[in-house]
Amino acid sequence: MVCIGEKSVMGQLLQYQANLKGMTPAQILSWAVSEFGAEGLCMASSMGYEDQLLTHLSAELPRPIGVFFLDTGRHFPETYACLEESRHRYKVPYRVYAPAAQEVEEMVSTEGPNLFYRSLELRKRCCEVRKVKPLQRALAGKKAWVTGQRAEQSLTRLGLRAIEWDSAHNLYKLNPLFNWSEQQLLEEIKTREVLTHPLQGEGFPSIGCQPCTRAVQPGESTRAGRWWWEEEEHKECGLHLK
Ligand code: ADX
Ligand code: SF4
Repeated sequence: MVCIGEKSVMGQLLQYQANLKGMTPAQILSWAVSEFGAEGLCMASSMGYEDQLLTHLSAELPRPIGVFFLDTGRHFPETYACLEESRHRYKVPYRVYAPAAQEVEEMVSTEGPNLFYRSLELRKRCCEVRKVKPLQRALAGKKAWVTGQRAEQSLTRLGLRAIEWDSAHNLYKLNPLFNWSEQQLLEEIKTREVLTHPLQGEGFPSIGCQPCTRAVQPGESTRAGRWWWEEEEHKECGLHLK
């Protein structure tokens, strides 16, 4: 059963989807600032290609959208280097969220530091502690968030739209690159001279935590190197649950 509140959200969502039809990513960001206000928005960045392009576009707005990074504590050294450099290059407010120390201590003490390789359940627990819970703090009080998701990235993202209702967190979610191909993305990055993560030219098209990300071989899919020991349909960390 759909309640009144949900009905009005869905009506508004359909209106927003119609508004965004045919807009470029830069136009979508600009529309979002006028609709939700820069302070009502936040942009999630893993420092990957997509997020760096969106950060670059945000920095060009009269009122840039703040960027947040979920620091799981298990990222590549190159990811921290990219964050450092981006903070200097892009004049956008950056915010970093860390997991609760006590929860990490408890998890690592009982299950070990590399629990994620042992079962899907343990991998999800690690993502929950290190990413999903800090995400809840990052989204608190916001009206909408921006992500770098693209439909082409995986089976789990087919059907992605420019704007969605994130019922897990009760706010809108914007995916300005939802229908972009990898080629389009790379061309745009080159044209705009976007600052990119050092590993991306070295076989890492998708960047995640170091123990859960490996380089891909030519011909493999973009996210083949993420949680490579798991089945395709499980490859979501919980940030983007439908
Ligand atoms: S993941 O959920 O499986 O890790 P992926 O790496 O493809 O997703 O990233 C999809 C989008 O989720 C990114 O474009 C970014 O918006 C957001 N995201 C992923 N990891 C982080 C992170 N560590 N900090 C902030 N946002 C992130
Ligand atoms: Fe833990 Fe791996 Fe998830 Fe990072 S990607 S939070 S290390 S399970």
